[in-house]
Amino acid sequence: MVKKLKLPRTTAVRHHGEYEWQDPKSEDEVVHITFINKDGKHVPLRGKVGDNLLYLGHRYGVEIEGACEASLACSTCHIYVKEEYLDKLPEPKEEEEDQLDLAAFLKDNSRLGCQIVLKKDLDGAEFTLPQATRNYYVDGHKPKPH
Ligand code: FES
Repeated sequence: MVKKLKLPRTTAVRHHGEYEWQDPKSEDEVVHITFINKDGKHVPLRGKVGDNLLYLGHRYGVEIEGACEASLACSTCHIYVKEEYLDKLPEPKEEEEDQLDLAAFLKDNSRLGCQIVLKKDLDGAEFTLPQATRNYYVDGHKPKPH
């Protein structure tokens, strides 16, 4: 007699970026931010508390790559944070520092976009894309928003 295999119960998988596709439920959670593209074009967005900057950028077609999908294995989500907002971010983890060391055009205000989660005191923040990013993860792979 063949015994049925009991598989462990799993909870619903939250796809990367799913949360960022939800509109803010109230004005209280809105966080206004601006991306500045490589060509200098400003892209103002209405994000919300808890949004991951990388996936929010993907939702609105900002050219922030994110090759490793926020697993801290690349630096293609490299961005510059407007100086006055740097202190409002948590200190980077060691893994983030390691990836930033490999990033092209590194500056004092460099961070990895996938490690930035919006909160109210980031309202008004600007995030500038560098001229180029270096991808040691999977060259040529450009993840599409889900
Ligand atoms: S997407 Fe790879 S480290 Fe941010």
